[in-house]
Amino acid sequence: MTQAMIQMQGIKKRYYEGKPNELEILHGIDLQVYPGEFVAIVGESGSGKSTLMNIIGALDRPSEGSYLLDGVDMLSLKDGRMSEIRNKKIGFVFQNFNLIGRQSAQKNVELPMLYAGLPARQRAQRAMELLELVGMEERARHQPNELSGGQKQRVAIARAMANDPAILLADEPTGALDSQTSRTVMDLFHQLNRQQGKTIVLITHSQALAEECQRILTLVDGQIIGERAGKEVPAHA
Ligand SMILES: Nc1ncnc2c1ncn2[C@@H]1O[C@H](COP(=O)(O)OP(=O)(O)O)[C@@H](O)[C@H]1O
Ligand SMILES: [Mg+2]
Repeated sequence: MTQAMIQMQGIKKRYYEGKPNELEILHGIDLQVYPGEFVAIVGESGSGKSTLMNIIGALDRPSEGSYLLDGVDMLSLKDGRMSEIRNKKIGFVFQNFNLIGRQSAQKNVELPMLYAGLPARQRAQRAMELLELVGMEERARHQPNELSGGQKQRVAIARAMANDPAILLADEPTGALDSQTSRTVMDLFHQLNRQQGKTIVLITHSQALAEECQRILTLVDGQIIGERAGKEVPAHA
């Protein structure tokens, strides 16, 4: 049997733990995502999607539960080691792009490679290849404020791919985009999933976008209440 890429059991997240205003946001999430899958987690605003994404992405720790990422027990790791694995295995795409303002598109894409210790020439070369992949090679020297929303998100996707991660985690990646631009961004995710075998977790409040994925998990008030197949056919099925 294939080992899950993401394996979560009984994940709970509480804020203000031990205080009178303690608040449990995730109530025991079990989640398995297999290599090469394109999975959607869909839920309304406030259902805990970003909280869950931060735990999947090892940006935050749960209050309870276990989490294996590619077989590694993430919660047993110290923060430094956790960050190393995060940088290597996961590429993030956010609703608001999170690009660095006074840096060119190319430098933004290079940033994760800089953290990973890649030499300058290789960084520049790979950044250009990735910008080409997302159709942004002609904007390589532009800064984010000179780009449209869709262009910024394409740069952000190139940046997410910088260290050739196994997983792309996208939190409302089309939330700030018009429908036509959203289409371009979704097409790019499908392409990366099919052609490069990237495991993709798409977090969205949009049922329509979720339908495009292979598997749809529904999050309501911090619990996964159901799972069903989407319309996307797995590339390796
Ligand atoms: N750092 C935090 N401290 C306290 N409460 C938080 C924090 N982050 C999120 N929450 C609360 O957790 C709930 C879920 O938030 P979130 O995960 O952002 O939902 P979603 O992404 O689905 O809109 C919300 O009620 C939010 O106010
Ligand atoms: Mg959110």
